[in-house]
Amino acid sequence: MTVHFIGAGPGAPDLLTLRGRDLIAACPVCLYAGSLVPEGVLAHCPPGARIVNTAPMSLDEIIEEIAAVHADGKDVARLHSGDLSIWSAMGEQLRRLRALGIPYTVTPGVPSFSAAAAALEAELTLPGLAQTVVLTRTPGRASAMPEGEKLAAFAATGAVLAIHLSIHLLDQVVAELTPHYGAECPVAIVWRASWPEQRIVRATLATLDAAVGGEMERTALILVGKTLGAADFDESRLYAADYDRRYRPVGAEPRFPEAS
Ligand SMILES: C[S@@+](CC[C@H](N)C(=O)[O-])C[C@H]1O[C@@H](n2cnc3c(N)ncnc32)[C@H](O)[C@@H]1O
Repeated sequence: MTVHFIGAGPGAPDLLTLRGRDLIAACPVCLYAGSLVPEGVLAHCPPGARIVNTAPMSLDEIIEEIAAVHADGKDVARLHSGDLSIWSAMGEQLRRLRALGIPYTVTPGVPSFSAAAAALEAELTLPGLAQTVVLTRTPGRASAMPEGEKLAAFAATGAVLAIHLSIHLLDQVVAELTPHYGAECPVAIVWRASWPEQRIVRATLATLDAAVGGEMERTALILVGKTLGAADFDESRLYAADYDRRYRPVGAEPRFPEAS
């Protein structure tokens, strides 16, 4: 018996890996983090599967549930929204399972920042403007931020920020970022990326408050940085006609002649 941790993606049921879908379809028990994993993803469960929403459960209760299914010799699909590598609470579950000797696998998912960037039709890293994306959040009731991981510290680098779990603190985010990026810096907010009710607001740090109005639904990403909506950026050297590289040797003396 194995517990399969599966990144369930940002919301759209077809934004799931084929491996994730097939594992869900093969497991007679599915535990899902109810607040963000949509019904459509659960439709991949086999008929008669036991489907448990873990949103109201404590970590102890979740592990008890898994241990009971393990004792019964059954596989479990354990679903968390987006990808498992960020804010999934997978780490603490794996630690408990290791201690109990319960086997598991990990299957990645489409993270919400990718779905939000796709909704914006945006490449977040553009030559000459930004080459780094920081996935971060502001402190919450359940999770303090380690000293040093301040929004202002990331903002000082000029990187693009993908700020999770923070839409309710929008005013504070804007106030902290404006001194570093400037009031004219582009911002985008994507609510429920990839869901049917997806909504996008594009603004600048100066105009964001008015653009958002009263809308403060929780599942949203705040993206900030010069690359958002930028038209004036360099082309990458990689595809430049005169750029000599392994897969496209150029000139009289290419660096990788053996590839030609
Ligand atoms: C607990 S974190 C989970 C992150 C997830 N593991 C991921 O890979 O994106 C929840 C936060 O992710 C963001 N989020 C998750 N799904 C989203 C979506 N479909 N659209 C916009 N933001 C989303 C929101 O900032 C939300 O507050």
